[in-house]
Amino acid sequence: MSRQGQLKILNHPLIQHKLTLMRCTDTPSDSFRRLLKEISILMSYEVFRDLPLKNIITNTPIQSMRSPVLSEKTVCLVPILRAGNGMLDGFIEIISGALVGHIGLYRDEETLKAHDYYINLPKGIGNAKTIILDPMLATGNSANAAISIIKKHDATDIVFTSILAAPEGVKAIEQRHPDVQIYTCCLDERLNDSGYITPGLGDAGDRLYGTI
Ligand code: URA
Repeated sequence: MSRQGQLKILNHPLIQHKLTLMRCTDTPSDSFRRLLKEISILMSYEVFRDLPLKNIITNTPIQSMRSPVLSEKTVCLVPILRAGNGMLDGFIEIISGALVGHIGLYRDEETLKAHDYYINLPKGIGNAKTIILDPMLATGNSANAAISIIKKHDATDIVFTSILAAPEGVKAIEQRHPDVQIYTCCLDERLNDSGYITPGLGDAGDRLYGTI
């Protein structure tokens, strides 16, 4: 893993290998979905690294011992619809007791601004470590909108996760939400004129659900 300020890049060889397969135009939706889930499982290992533990007494076949389990800190997973759902499949596999909220955003293809059409966040998000899931951190408009919505619901411990990020998106979060840690698997070159990450992987929602 490498760090650049608020940004952590998960450059594990398994993640990088799977990401290359995801980028490939010839990768069909079923493989793309599986790869996104697998990368998300691998990402969760780093994202949850600082979850607090508490010791409990457990009985092994040999004797009793004090041993760590996750403490009461709640985790809340918030996919940004619709592509974020592909990451949810991986994260929830690892932490099945997490709360789950959803934020639906669409971006105006001309202005690239984000507009919300659905917000459903669980009670208790205020005390949770909240992980926002969106495979593509492009302009940062959707990311910043989602973070602001979540902050309005009293969440303070917020992490943003993506599979790919553009420098423009990282900068946008750093400027507006300097308290939010960003995890991604690769910092790509730039955005193109249509707001797509370049070289990127195309439209993550379309690739995921075969709606190209
Ligand atoms: N959303 C996508 O799905 N792909 C991009 O490259 C940018 C935003």
